[in-house]
Amino acid sequence: MTSKVMGTGSYVPENIVTNEDLAKLVDTSDEWIVSRTGIHERRIAMDEGTSAMAAEAGRRALENAGIGAEELDVIVLATTTPDNLPPSGACEVQAALGAVNAVAFDIAAACTGFEFALTMVQAYVQTGVYRTGLVIGAECLSKIVDWTDRATCVLFGDGAGAAVVRADESGVIHSVLGSDGTKGPVLTCTSRSTGNFLNGREPKLGYVYMDGQEVFRFAVKKVPECIRRVLDESNTDINEIKYFVLHQANLRICESVAKRLHVSMDRIPMNIGAYGNTSGATVPILLDELNREGKLERGDKIVLCGFGGGLTWGAVLLEW
Ligand code: UT7
Repeated sequence: MTSKVMGTGSYVPENIVTNEDLAKLVDTSDEWIVSRTGIHERRIAMDEGTSAMAAEAGRRALENAGIGAEELDVIVLATTTPDNLPPSGACEVQAALGAVNAVAFDIAAACTGFEFALTMVQAYVQTGVYRTGLVIGAECLSKIVDWTDRATCVLFGDGAGAAVVRADESGVIHSVLGSDGTKGPVLTCTSRSTGNFLNGREPKLGYVYMDGQEVFRFAVKKVPECIRRVLDESNTDINEIKYFVLHQANLRICESVAKRLHVSMDRIPMNIGAYGNTSGATVPILLDELNREGKLERGDKIVLCGFGGGLTWGAVLLEW
């Protein structure tokens, strides 16, 4: 038994922030941002947080799947920007959706969060622990971005994407996930570290820091490597893959992956121009767009692939 994607949903805040808007805030330009990243604009949440966006994406995914919230056995929310600690964002989603029979929890794997969460739910389904799951990637990165740092603030956006999966004969075929904690310092955000009444230190809350070039080098090597592995280990020919749904971190990274895999960019859909990098939400938002545009047919094989903070990476091969 495996898990089939029954429906998808996504949500992005209404508020659009263009490159020109950011050029009024920091020393940057539309030309620099577009040529280095492919980003034209991003959505930034005003009043809503991660849980509200996740719940709306989840509600849309349930509607698309034709499945009631009470049918869900498990909700896994992948996020690095939860609104609260606790309750988990997944518990807030459960409450908002009325998913009374679901166990709900968050996982943190940064930009690979959706692939980690989907693989975890797949393991539950495969072993018969749960039958129906809601997998969400949602981020409110605008809360942890330093809006005075041009090296990072132009890259990120807010949003959420979700998929409802259910036990079936076909669906997820194979996953390859990985982590390298020794490279953690290249992409960090301090959160309430090491402050307590005994040591007298104030809890420290930081902003996102990224060694962009280091992450770039890691991505262009690791993404093709783990895609090749997921294909090899499942005896799948690369020509069988209709789409490679890649984490939207940088258009140039995706172009480099296309080159290294010898596939054309028509098989690597992009939406980074409209939303920027929404971390764990990019892949499910893109998947939802493909689904709603009618670009996926039952039986199509696709690969989802994420990479980012941790460092983490992961590729999931699935039959639609
Ligand atoms: O989702 C998590 C994973 N994250 C990623 O995959 C991100 C991977 N990294 C990247 O996408 C790229 O490294 C960036 C887009 C972050 C940066 O592009 P780059 O081509 O590596 O630029 P750079 O960091 O080498 O910076 C080049 C120049 C520097 O100036 P100097 O030293 O050459 O004078 C920067 O100070 O561009 C400058 N710069 C900017 N200029 C205008 C950096 N940010 C900006 C900016 N506007 N926003």
